[in-house]
Amino acid sequence: MSDDSFDVIVIGSGPGGYVCAIRAAQLGLRTACVEKRATLGGVCLNVGCIPSKALLQASEKFEEAQHGLAAFGVKVGKVDLDLKGLMGHKDSVVKANTAGVEFLFKKNKVTWLKGEGRIAAADTVEVGGKSYKAKSIVIATGSAVAPLKGVEIDEKRIVSSTGALELDSVPKRLVVIGGGYIGLEMGSVWQRLGSQVTVVEFLDRILPGMDGEVSKHMQRILKKQGMAFKLGTKVTGAKASAKGVALTLEPAKGGKAETLEADIVLLSIGRVANTGGLGLDKIGVDTDERGRVATDGHYATSVKGIYAIGDVIVGPMLAHKAEEEGVALAELLAGQKGHVNYDAIPGVVYTWPEVAQVGRTEEQLKEAGIAYKAGKFPLTANGRARAMNATEGFVKILADAKTDKVLGVHILSAEAGTMIAEAAMAIEFGASAEDIARTCHAHPPLNEAVKEAALAVGGRALHI
Ligand code: FAD
Ligand code: NAI
Repeated sequence: MSDDSFDVIVIGSGPGGYVCAIRAAQLGLRTACVEKRATLGGVCLNVGCIPSKALLQASEKFEEAQHGLAAFGVKVGKVDLDLKGLMGHKDSVVKANTAGVEFLFKKNKVTWLKGEGRIAAADTVEVGGKSYKAKSIVIATGSAVAPLKGVEIDEKRIVSSTGALELDSVPKRLVVIGGGYIGLEMGSVWQRLGSQVTVVEFLDRILPGMDGEVSKHMQRILKKQGMAFKLGTKVTGAKASAKGVALTLEPAKGGKAETLEADIVLLSIGRVANTGGLGLDKIGVDTDERGRVATDGHYATSVKGIYAIGDVIVGPMLAHKAEEEGVALAELLAGQKGHVNYDAIPGVVYTWPEVAQVGRTEEQLKEAGIAYKAGKFPLTANGRARAMNATEGFVKILADAKTDKVLGVHILSAEAGTMIAEAAMAIEFGASAEDIARTCHAHPPLNEAVKEAALAVGGRALHI
């Protein structure tokens, strides 16, 4: 094969694209990955998961040093914020991660084609005026911020998550539009650093994809932390000036308008698939009603030889979902049997405490008419949670009423994002609640609460 001819060309180097490229190369396919950004890793590593988690971690330390350590008998004196230092931590974490992907590309002999990719034909990708041939093309171009009419993002006063990751001072009043993943995570960061945060949410609840009980409880906790909520409210306009932003709000179901003043506004009402500039219309790649690339169960698009994965296709816009699809598709392209179990994809919101879920919510089970049993265990009854001063929250396990098969697990707790792994594995293995209950859990970590919730499904919890 010549330098401009590959088995697979992946467009986009986010967690979907870069993982697909590495796995394809591991399986012996000659692979290239096109990326227009100056560094690899996509939204997730550059302006998404990784920088937001670095800021969440750092702001949690700041909050803890100010308000949490004294309760442990640790005196720290006056605590000052070094915002530049905090941002420096974030930048160095991002740099290490993006450089890590570059290293992995070299190690696995994946060619990075630098620039914007356009699909010229079913076997041709153009990058920087040069044509490259491929037996298979993978669209992994990810997603971008969903716009809102009347609220123009300038990344100064009205910011997207990208702007919210690099504010150069702590806004006095931050208004977040959208009470989902980004709104609550980035809202938590700035609130811990000193902002008064108000979340304006269109629906009458936050975290709409999560279990209703968890979402209600989480809102109560965030309120106690000082976050204000305007639910059932829509933003109809935003006027930015040197002083700040004046937002016009209206009840979602209609009614009297009001004005809300902010220093900074974060727009986080979801994300939309990135397909612009790829030339999809010209070559006949179909998109769905929401502009996502339409695919079959094996990631094939309407054009033979062209595939798509990650945020640009249907499904939760999560890095690990994109990664699983990347691996599955690479294996399919290499003639193996790649597969993703969409019933076992966890979702985690990295607030304090964290919210994590896998499988179905109570609302979904009720709607589907599935009879279930619920077992719940509060963190107040967990020894380690008491030792950590982290007793807010609970673990809830939903199991089939007849077979005891685990259908959904919902955790509101410190470290919920780590605890959910055993629940995802239980669902992956088709485990029953009794399987979890009979598994010996080390004492006294927080995930003893998972075992107790499983025991509670059978009405035999030991510590409540
Ligand atoms: P992306 O990561 O969006 O990558 C697509 C890449 O393609 C980009 O680098 C883009 O530059 C490139 N590209 C696009 N078009 C072209 C073209 N024509 N030519 C060349 N290159 C192109 N998910 C989690 O699971 N956990 C989290 O904690 C989490 N936190 C998040 C925090 C924030 C603030 C945001 C915004 C998102 C977060 N997500 C998180 C979601 C996660 O980032 C996405 O689900 C994930 O990045 C999707 O991966 P992807 O590979 O589909 O695309
Ligand atoms: P989101 O879908 O999580 O939340 C958007 C929220 O905005 C919803 O509650 C929705 O009801 C609300 N909304 C929609 N239109 C509105 C309007 N006009 N006015 C007021 N509210 C409105 O989207 P978000 O937070 O932008 O994040 C995008 C995606 O990125 C997430 O869905 C998730 O897939 C991913 N992400 C994942 C993270 C994680 O895994 N920890 C962290 C951050 C993002």
